[in-house]
Amino acid sequence: MLGFIVESRSPRVSYGVSTVPLPLGEYVSASYTVDDRVRGVTIQRRVLAVVSNAGFVHAIPQSVIKYLNPNQAGQASAPKLSPMTLYVIAEIVEGTRVEPPRYPIPPDTVIDSASGNLLSLVYSAPGGVRLGMLSPSSLGVEIKINPDKLVKHLLIAGATGSGKSNTVAVIADRISAIGAPVVVFDVHGEYDIIPEDGDSSRVVKVQAKINPMRMPPRILALIIIPEPQARRQRRILYKAIKDVKEEVDREAQSKGIKLEQAIESIAEKRGVKIDELEERSLSYDEALAEKYKALLIRKLEGISDAKDKTRVETIIDKVEEFFEITPITMLEDPPLNYLELGKILVVDASTLTDDQRRWMLKIIVDELLLKLKSKSIKPVVLVVEEAPLFLSIELNHPVKQSLQRFAREGRKFGGCLIVVSQRPRSLDVNVVSQLQNFIFLRMVQEEDIRAVMNIADNLDENLARIIPSLPDGRGLVMGEIIGRFPALVDIDLHKGKKAGAAPKLTETWSEYKSKKMPVFDIE
Ligand SMILES: Nc1ncnc2c1ncn2[C@@H]1O[C@H](COP(=O)(O)OP(=O)(O)OP(=O)(O)O)[C@@H](O)[C@H]1O
Ligand SMILES: [Mg+2]
Repeated sequence: MLGFIVESRSPRVSYGVSTVPLPLGEYVSASYTVDDRVRGVTIQRRVLAVVSNAGFVHAIPQSVIKYLNPNQAGQASAPKLSPMTLYVIAEIVEGTRVEPPRYPIPPDTVIDSASGNLLSLVYSAPGGVRLGMLSPSSLGVEIKINPDKLVKHLLIAGATGSGKSNTVAVIADRISAIGAPVVVFDVHGEYDIIPEDGDSSRVVKVQAKINPMRMPPRILALIIIPEPQARRQRRILYKAIKDVKEEVDREAQSKGIKLEQAIESIAEKRGVKIDELEERSLSYDEALAEKYKALLIRKLEGISDAKDKTRVETIIDKVEEFFEITPITMLEDPPLNYLELGKILVVDASTLTDDQRRWMLKIIVDELLLKLKSKSIKPVVLVVEEAPLFLSIELNHPVKQSLQRFAREGRKFGGCLIVVSQRPRSLDVNVVSQLQNFIFLRMVQEEDIRAVMNIADNLDENLARIIPSLPDGRGLVMGEIIGRFPALVDIDLHKGKKAGAAPKLTETWSEYKSKKMPVFDIE
């Protein structure tokens, strides 16, 4: 016996007391019978609840004891009590039926610990992918997530070091192991994952760059001119991109040469030259990009239609700007070419600026949605780390709309979005309200907790109170991926994800000092 119920103001929330405080997030249960006057029956009920708040007080304040009994002041030890709040998760009716709570727990009901059987009944997961163990793991209840429900997307929120990236690694690895193609947009270049099955060919890491020749002209035009109202400009650009592409393709085919050679050959024919001095400072790939850009601009300049002449200058500016701010390659395949069933594609965007990252992600998101809609790829899972970079309230960038559209429309075509954030308060609620599955790891800032309550409308304030005291790797999991009831889960620690953990400073320093090694490696 752990204590008693004192008061229940609703079926969801009860207040109880114990002689010693119970840890926050502990599962407890209580059993009672109710007279159902409406149906004229007596029903046996057992509830499953979590301790969501606890205090510790003297049952009678010391000052009151002193007042009542001045002679014994200071000697009497008054009994102590721990008042606690219980958040009721589910009700088990007649021993088997699991339902949301409908009755307030009667006062004086005994609070028990929750048995493994009871927890298995509430959290029974027939199939799916293992996430970890219900907390505490000593209860022996395995928790799985249902990958089919990822079409309702997933938000993983937690403070730094609370275990977000580990959770991503666990999910990405295990759903790809059953065949899912997973794309991780890796902002920090931290996803050096070795899959749990040891098959490192299941992780493909590519640098994020755009290849204008391999990108569908319509998408490239949309990336360069994203403004919805600039439809005419975009159409002109699209046509120019298409013409250049077709010309290069024709050249390559007729001469039996590679695309890059075809670009050079046409540039030569057209007399398009880049400054020799400049060319020497460029890599072969960069020089090719310059030539391609020059060909595209030449094509735009050649537009004779008087109506469009004025527009062309603006378009050229946008093309110039695009080539300046975006990492371009003419030789490498676009990242999504490496997308494969059963593999994790890590798109390393760590070398890009924040703005380039936004463009790059936008391209990937748009292309994924397009391909999903045209059924040219199978359902896919996209993981976006550092969400505030792409989804913050203040941000005015097309990537935000792209992610929103992916979340809204993707669900019908099998596009699953996993958004990871350590600052949920800065996320645009309009966009993240599309996410309907949640893993909340430890967060201490009041604003962040309020924000996630805003995003997850069925996250009760009483349940949210346990979030600040969650240890590393323990998450409050909610949404259809887990079933009908929120669960506290000790998420498995992924053995094959190394980077991302804090560097071991003292170890490194003392090692270098003892070996008298230089601080800076000149190499
Ligand atoms: N499920 C877990 N079980 C045990 N330890 C964990 C778990 N998850 C994370 N940790 C510990 O916390 C550390 C940080 O985890 P992780 O890199 O996933 O945090 P993060 O939330 O992504 O942090 P950041 O915001 O800095 O990226 C891990 O190196 C590990 O030591
Ligand atoms: Mg991380």
